[in-house]
Order: sequence, then structure tokens, then C-alpha cells
Amino acid sequence: MGLTIGVDIGGTKVLGGVVDETGKVLATTRRPTPADDVARTRDVIVEVVRELAEDRQIEAVGIGAAGWIDADRSTVLFAPNLAWRDEPLREAVSAGTGLPVIVENDANVAAWAEFRYGAAEDAIDSMVLFTIGTGIGGGIVLGGRLIRGAHGIAAELGHVQAVPDGHPCGCGRHGCIEQYASGSALVRYAQTGVKDDTAAGAALLDKAAGDVGAINGPMVTDAALAGDALAIDAFRQVGTWLGVAMADMVQILDPQVIVIGGGVVEAGDLLMKPTLMSYQEQLAQRAKSPIAEVRPARMGNLAGIVGAADLARS
Ligand code: BGC
Ligand code: NA
Ligand code: ZN
Repeated sequence: MGLTIGVDIGGTKVLGGVVDETGKVLATTRRPTPADDVARTRDVIVEVVRELAEDRQIEAVGIGAAGWIDADRSTVLFAPNLAWRDEPLREAVSAGTGLPVIVENDANVAAWAEFRYGAAEDAIDSMVLFTIGTGIGGGIVLGGRLIRGAHGIAAELGHVQAVPDGHPCGCGRHGCIEQYASGSALVRYAQTGVKDDTAAGAALLDKAAGDVGAINGPMVTDAALAGDALAIDAFRQVGTWLGVAMADMVQILDPQVIVIGGGVVEAGDLLMKPTLMSYQEQLAQRAKSPIAEVRPARMGNLAGIVGAADLARS
């Protein structure tokens, strides 16, 4: 039958699933992610795997983690937005479950799931995925293979510099595109906008009970959906930068498809419209020859487990 388990470690929850050879999810389970407690997170992953493996023949486990993974697919070397530093996840989870384990970058596993079973299912050669959440994740498939780089850390598309001497980034650099086109950037644009013009920010301020610092992503999305100009403009800024990042990938790789995933994508056209405008504008000179088709992700919150489980198989 060939069952494997995929585990997706998110900021708020650890989601695990049993996946068959066709990418079908047979069972799932979830636990809250212990905030900033890496040892406890390890235990939670082990618990999730044990629960799913009970009464089932499981071949292997794949873990998707939001950080820089080594070439052996075993250690989280560094995570710009989380507490992991040289975290030997594979060893810990393998010891706790008795199963073979691989660790892979969260965006890489999502890209693999979209390529095999999702939005880029029909792309036979190449795709690039951007996931837009707290940070920006990237995944690249070329010639039908996931590109991991010489040291495991390829496709860190969020940490490409957009603005010289720009905002400090969790990775240690300044001006990374993650600081301009992520969910965190969306919130910063909105908060800055409200501070600059409290009248224009009235609707958002109201949602946040008068506390600018309490404005969050869902509030910005709600306000934008209700037509609030300041919130709509925050999405425009994110989309404009995202379009630049996508155009850069076209210049480097000329992929068949670009897939956009992550929480912010739920805002639909609010994000996609300015993104596509910027993307096409950036590549106006290439309009005479085809450029990568842009598609929203299709696997939703199952992308992580399906991709991780599938990669654990190969
Ligand atoms: C990290 C990536 C991760 C992405 C999305 C970035 O800040 O560097 O490794 O894939 O966030 O979680
Ligand atoms: Na990646
Ligand atoms: Zn960075």
C-alpha cells in the first residue's frame, strides 16, 4: 500500500497526515505548536506521528519545517522567524517513532505537493512557488525535480534583497523582499498607514479597539474586503513587491508556472490583482514571448503534509 506520514509544523499548529502513493490523505491529526519551545515541539511531532502510525504500516515520515535544512535533510540549521538553531529534528523524531524520517523546508514540500497533485499538476518541467505568510517561502522544481541546492538551502526566495539598507530581516540581512511582500509586511503597511492618517485608518482602528499595534492580518483582509481604501492599499503594496519577485524568477529560470500560496492568498483578487499588474509591468518587454502562467495554490492547508509525505517516499 505504501503509506507515509507527512507533518507540517506551522506557527500555530502541528498538522500530521497519512498519505498514500497517489497523494490521497487518509487521516489527519493536529496539536497546537508549543510557542518558542523547541524541545516540546519535538515531542509534539513524535506524538502526532505515533498517533497516526498506530495500527498502520508506515514506511517513512516527512517533516516540513519553516527554516533552512541541511543537505542531509536532517537538521534545521536556522529559522528566521522561529526559535530553531541547529535542531536535529530527524534524529529526535526517528528515535521517538522508530521510523525513517526526512526533514524538508516547508515551502519546498508545498511546492512539491502543488507540482505533483495541485495547481501545477500539468507542468511537466518547471514551476516556482511563493508562499506568502508570516515570511515568504520559495520552492523550485526544475526538470521535474525539487531543487535543494548544494547545501540544502536553495529557493530561499524571501531573502533576496529588494531594498538596499531596508528593513532588518529575521535572517540577519536588511531589505529582504520578505520584509516587503509578506503577511507581516501587510500588517506593517496598514499600521504605518493608520499612524500617518488616523482619519483614513478609522475602520482599522475600530477593529483593533483603538490600538494600532493590535491590527493584524485578518483585520486588514476584512477591512479591504469591505472596501477600506487604506487596507486595499496595503495589499497593493504587498502585491507590487510580489510581482517584482516573480518577474525576477522569470528572468532567472523562465519556469512554466508560478504558484502563489500561503495564508495571505485567501484574500483573492485583493492580492492577485496588484500582483499580476506588477508582474506584467515588470516583464513588459517580454510580452512578445510567453511568460510563466501565474496560478493560486490548490492544495490549501494539505500541501505541507502531502508534499512532505511524498518526498519521504522518494
Ligand atoms: C524562511 C524559509 C521559510 C519561509 C516560509 C522564511 O523566512 O527563511 O525557510 O520557508 O519563511 O515559512
Ligand atoms: Na524553500
Ligand atoms: Zn531575510
